[in-house]
Amino acid sequence: MVKFDITRARQETRGCEQQLHFNNAGASLPPIPVADALYDYLREEEEQGGYEVMARRAVELDHFYTAAAQLLNCAAEEIAFTDSATRAWNAAFYAFDFQSGDRILASSAEYGSSLVALLHRAKCHGVEITWVPDDPTGQIDIGNLENQIDGRVKLICLTQVPSGGGLVNPAAEVGKLAKAAGIPYLLDACQALGQLPVDVEQLGCDLLCGTGRKFLRGPRGTGLLYVRKSLLEQLEPDQLNHHAAPLLSADSYQLRKDAKRFEYWERSYAAQLAFGIAIDYALTWGLEAISERISSLAASLRQKLINLDGVTLADQGTEQCAIVTFSTAQLPADQLQQQLSLRKINTSSVPFSANPVSSDLRRHPLLLRASLHYYNTFEEIERFVAELKQLL
Ligand SMILES: Cc1ncc(COP(=O)(O)O)c(C=O)c1O
Repeated sequence: MVKFDITRARQETRGCEQQLHFNNAGASLPPIPVADALYDYLREEEEQGGYEVMARRAVELDHFYTAAAQLLNCAAEEIAFTDSATRAWNAAFYAFDFQSGDRILASSAEYGSSLVALLHRAKCHGVEITWVPDDPTGQIDIGNLENQIDGRVKLICLTQVPSGGGLVNPAAEVGKLAKAAGIPYLLDACQALGQLPVDVEQLGCDLLCGTGRKFLRGPRGTGLLYVRKSLLEQLEPDQLNHHAAPLLSADSYQLRKDAKRFEYWERSYAAQLAFGIAIDYALTWGLEAISERISSLAASLRQKLINLDGVTLADQGTEQCAIVTFSTAQLPADQLQQQLSLRKINTSSVPFSANPVSSDLRRHPLLLRASLHYYNTFEEIERFVAELKQLL
């Protein structure tokens, strides 16, 4: 195992000494280079004017696309900037021209917002949604997924890491099946980006959504969409604008050929620039090294929690990530979260909307989510467990 430079990680994270931040699946603490880039850009806008700064810093703004492409192992033309993962997922999903009787296969780990969009399509277009069951470990059942595939299936949706648990779904195995069947594959990598290596070639996904503020440590209000080149020209966004489809004359436009066809022109340019820097920053640590560090922290926390009276761990799957979820016999998770917050420990409780299908099936109590990042330490885990002991 490569030694992780935790001193540097913490020196470059202003917020980490002020509290114990175990809410990285909500939003991570941005590192100094990201936060400063954001503040500096906003200051320049204040002093020089937004359009002027945008023109002057065009190359740096454009770097976001190159950085995202490097992160995902794709081409910059396959990346769109969005203001959230939800916006990215919806842009991809609503671009499909589903017909009555078409089927969509989806995992139980889908995020609540995606579930609403799926239900909306089912209601308005007569699309049939099939929730692929989980295997006994709680991850998507690959054999069942294979059996579900037929000529009516027009899309496969998977959430790689759910909002409310440590599960890592076998996204590459799903990719193999989707590719063999020639079915587009939409991957929600919102909680995976920045904590695991995510390579679209290795995963075999055709569309992928992610957000900036979680494990990538970018600013709020940023997200990205990846669209495989071979699918790009077949997918026409459900809403167009003059950036996605520049006007040729007063009565004609031409849809862009790259993934920017899914974008709008107006956005926070400061956030876009800082998001690119956040991706660069993650890449300087290396996603393999980050994932290794996070795994050892999360394993240590799980091990300590198992030994506490009344604590039940809730994470599923054969591979588990930085999101540690549990319930306690003594206190409901929302009360526990509030008590921890009073002790300057940031966690969250998992709302039903995080993974409604899975929560409905599992019928677990409200869960507390302690999500770790590489700048967290084993000492913080000790403190977290000690505080928890006092509360239970
Ligand atoms: C798995 C998953 N997908 C999608 C989203 C939505 O991300 P955003 O809030 O950036 O739209 C979340 C947010 O928590 C998530 O956890």
